[in-house]
Parts: sequence; structure tokens; C-alpha cells
Amino acid sequence: MLFPLTENIHYKNNALHIENTSIENIANAIGTPFYAYSHARLMHNINSCKDAFTPYGIHVHYAVKANSNLHILKLIGEQGLGVDLVSGGELYRASEAGIAVEKMIFSGVGKSKTELLHALEMNIGQFNVESAEELALLDKIAAELATHRAINHPNSQRPIINVTLRVNPDVAVNTHKHITTGQKGNKFGIDIELAFALFQQYQDHPHITLNGLAMHIGSQIFDVAPYRKAIQKLLALVKDIQSFGAEVTTLDLGGGFGIHYENTESTDKTQQAGLEFATIAKVIAEETESFKGKVAVEPGRSLVADIGLLVSRVNYVKESNPTPFLILDAAMNDLMRPALYQASHPIKEVVKNAEDVTRPYDIVGPICESTDIFAKSYALNKALKAGDLVAFFCSGAYCAVMSNSYNSRDIVPEILVNNTDVKVIRERVNQETLLKFEEERLIKI
Ligand code: LLP
Repeated sequence: MLFPLTENIHYKNNALHIENTSIENIANAIGTPFYAYSHARLMHNINSCKDAFTPYGIHVHYAVKANSNLHILKLIGEQGLGVDLVSGGELYRASEAGIAVEKMIFSGVGKSKTELLHALEMNIGQFNVESAEELALLDKIAAELATHRAINHPNSQRPIINVTLRVNPDVAVNTHKHITTGQKGNKFGIDIELAFALFQQYQDHPHITLNGLAMHIGSQIFDVAPYRKAIQKLLALVKDIQSFGAEVTTLDLGGGFGIHYENTESTDKTQQAGLEFATIAKVIAEETESFKGKVAVEPGRSLVADIGLLVSRVNYVKESNPTPFLILDAAMNDLMRPALYQASHPIKEVVKNAEDVTRPYDIVGPICESTDIFAKSYALNKALKAGDLVAFFCSGAYCAVMSNSYNSRDIVPEILVNNTDVKVIRERVNQETLLKFEEERLIKI
């Protein structure tokens, strides 16, 4: 099967199916646009991830930001993965999904005081701190909590607050400029020199246990070389830190493993797969062989991207010179990646026309913005007409999570398909519901 088609998202008698469910039938039942996910594909991805990392003892923490639907989180949690969180909202969702606090990592460059306090009260597994200022704030809140505990629960044991510093290793990564994170000038992470100084300053600290280093060098990375380079820089820092007697017991190496978004003509699996879990796991294991503590990774996209489709109906085929427009009922508010990063998702007809003749279309949404374009000069069937369905592939990561209601459009629903079992896992949020949040109320200041 040629990517992006898989055993789980495939054509049966010329009709696109997720597992054993026809996409057209879902569209007729719940309307368009909608996201639909394959349960089996999610399980496949989780298993290949675990099979790759677990033999080396590398811990996997799913980066929740890629798809934070409660039901997806539950499934991921049930398979034993931990999570990487970047907001109080994600922390809430992860707890609601039943994920154990010790498997939670709290990342993020601008955690608020309230978020830190809440995470400390929950006693989550690890804080990835991104600045000296955040470290000082975390320490202050931890001290206040310790005082409070000492007064109210004098016999309780002091909880260990594991803190890692997210280092900016300053390595060049060949990806879209909007998704690099580990180079000088990015807002993320702490310079190596400062990280060293902070380890000295916070050694044997009464309230927090600074015991790890973290990195995340970007997203959509296909080449293992920047990972090797960045890990080597982290390990050199570990040595320096150990030289004055401090301990580094955790290395968190982030995510970023690239997946392909192109239609491929190749049947060569390695060309279809992007940066495979097995490849990067081996590289990480090799590079960290001398490190005796816990090693973790935080993949997001690679676990969920290819589980999902965005399904949309054609509103109009607008003839135009030189290229006709395919005007869909999905728009940039439902799928922002093309407008934000010029990303392209493979697009296919949901029901294949018997006559396989294509012509180029500019594929757009109905929003009043010139950036509401999904693809330019994209070849689809010549006979497409209003009412036909199309599907955007690889739409499980950074798609539904980034949707919004711009132009007063409804928030797009999400569907989970497990064989012939179809569940709405996020309702369409319509204007009636949204307007309930716009009822005015006076507040006392
Ligand atoms: N860990 C941290 C600290 C991160 O910031 C990210 C993603 C990840 C892990 C997961 O990276 P992944 O394995 O998914 O590449 N919205 C963009 C992607 C932004 C990624 C931000 N950080 C997109 O649609 O391409």
C-alpha cells in the first residue's frame, strides 16, 4: 500500500475506510467537516514506539500538545506511556485521563505561578525548567509549600521535587523555521554555561532536587545527526556537573521525530516512514550508553499524525483561469497547518471515480482570508463536483488541537473508529453553545 494509505486507512471497493467503517457513511451521519481517527493505527504506533525504546530502557512520554483529546490520552495512558505537558490545561486533561502523576513531565517556557503551584501540589514526576527565573520561582513556591506542610502535616515526608534544566544545545536542524527550538535566539531552554552555573547554585538544595537535563531541538526532524550532536553536548555538560560532585540522574531528549506528509510513489518502507522509532531509539541508546540514569523521550507527532483524517465536502468547483478552485467546507480554522507553516497534507477523494483522470485545483476554504489555502495546483479527479467528499491525510497531530472558531465557524468534531465501532469523542461546538459564553455579567473590581 502506498503511503499515506495504511492497512488501517485504506480504500475498499474505491471507497475510503478507516478500518471497517466507510468515511462516506460517517459524513452522512454527522455532517462535515470532521476529524476521524483509527484506533488500530494508534495502537500500532504505540506498540512500535514501545518495541523500539523499551528494550533500551528508554522511557516514553507522549507530548500531549500533538493531540490532547481525552479519549486519545486515555488510550495512550492505558498502554503505559507517560506524558509531556506544557500547560495547566494539559495537566488537567492528563489527570482526567487517569495518567499517574509520577509519569508526568511539565515542560514549557512560560509556566505561570498558578500552574507551578498546582503541579507541585499534585507532586508530578518532573519539572523541565526553562530559565533561571522560572527555577527561582519554582524554588520559592516549593519553599512556601514546605512551610505550609510543616505546619499542617508535621509528620509528613518532604516530597521530592525532581527538576531538570532544559538546555538550548544550539544545534542547527533542517526543518521549517517556525518549528526549530534548539538554536541560539529561540526562546526555549537555557544556555549550557548558565545551566552549569545553576547546578552549582542549586546543589543540595533544601526544597528542589535539580537532577536532570532536558532538550528538544525541534519538530519534523529526519536526520539523526543533530540528535547525536545535541546529546554529546548534554553529556559533556553532565561530566562538568559531575566534576564538582553534583548528580545528573535524568536525561530527557525531547521529541521531534519527523513523519512524511507527501504522497509517495515509493514502495520502499524506509522512504515512507520518516524517522522511524527503531532508528532514533538505536541512535539514542548508542549515544547515551555511558549514561547510567534515566533516559526519556517525548514524541508527539510520530505517535498520532497518521492515525487521522480531516474529512470535508466540496462546496463549489469554481472555474477559473488558469486553475479552478475547489472550495471546501473545511477552512484554515479547522486545519491551520497549511496557513501557518505552508504545510501540505495529502488530499484524496473519499469515493474514487471510476475514470482516473485528474486536473490541478487550488484547494481553499470559505474563510475571508487569502491565506485560507490548503494546496495550490493540486491534482485531484477531474470530475469532482459540489457535494463530493475529500480527506486530508496525516491529520492526527497538531490539527484538531489547533482548530478554532474564526469567522464564527463551529469547532470541528472528532470521531474515533475502532473497526465498525464509531464514537464521537468531541462534539461539534456550534454557535449556540459558544454564545452561552458571551452572556454578559457584571464583575466587582
Ligand atoms: N517536547 C517538547 C518540549 C516540545 O516542545 C514538543 C513540540 C514535543 C516534545 C513534541 O514534538 P514532536 O514529536 O511532536 O515533533 N504545531 C507544529 C509543531 C509544534 C511542535 C512544538 N513542540 C506543527 O503543526 O508542525
